[in-house]
Amino acid sequence: MKNTVASLLKMKENGEKISMLTCYDYSTAKLMEASGINMILVGDSLGNTMLGYKDTLSVTMEDMIHHGAAVVRGVKQTFVVMDMPFMSYQPSVYDAVVNAGRLIKETGANAVKLEGGAAVKEHIRAITDSGIPVVAHIGMTPQSVNAFGGFKVQGKNEKAAEQILQDAYDVQEAGAFAVVLECVPAKLAALISEKLMIPTIGIGAGAGCDGQVLVWQDMLGLFSDYVPKFVKHFANVGDIMVKAFNDYDQEVKEGTFPAQAHEFKIDDEIVEKLKE
Ligand code: KIV
Ligand code: NA
Repeated sequence: MKNTVASLLKMKENGEKISMLTCYDYSTAKLMEASGINMILVGDSLGNTMLGYKDTLSVTMEDMIHHGAAVVRGVKQTFVVMDMPFMSYQPSVYDAVVNAGRLIKETGANAVKLEGGAAVKEHIRAITDSGIPVVAHIGMTPQSVNAFGGFKVQGKNEKAAEQILQDAYDVQEAGAFAVVLECVPAKLAALISEKLMIPTIGIGAGAGCDGQVLVWQDMLGLFSDYVPKFVKHFANVGDIMVKAFNDYDQEVKEGTFPAQAHEFKIDDEIVEKLKE
């Protein structure tokens, strides 16, 4: 079944959990589509996982479009959300609409995601009004890492918790059809999920959310620069890859790869003639 804004809202109504993973390329998108997950996020986390930056601030519109278009070519049923990169929406509501439009037109994705609560209400409203579904993102918002002074859990004291709840109401009111809650206490995320009509998608926000998202290299044990507390390794694919690369290295050096089965043939006669 094709995942749409309507089907995702219906899942919340029916109490069915929504699954989402990040993805940045065609081959992986095809595998995710085959797995039946509901949503793919072309996250600006590609700055970390694909490009090796220490944060997401350097990621450009061109980076996002390059990876997003590849992902969209790999799926039919999966709902694809494009992250709006740092400074593609913060400067003005006009910039937000123009860049959201580019992300959709130049990739074929289904929705955009941007970070912030009250501060981006107008941006969310204007993008939604232009016909582009919006996913909001509140709590720990990595594009504000310099303001936060690090990647830290948000909403632990009463004032901060109240602010995040208000942000949640604000983004829903502005027209967001879903909201990512990143690194907030589980009980706060559960409360927000109960209060909102739109689905909450948690990362480091506990089991009370309406859905979950993880970075795919994190959940497969492919990214070891750091492993946040909220990550579970569903497989250790990194170890499998190192083993396979090592086997290849050995076989190349021993001369056991390629074998005859991997070779192309030519008539012996032709080779004999060339020798003359
Ligand atoms: O870029 C990303 O991967 C994200 C998720 C962590 C929600 O925004
Ligand atoms: Na992101």
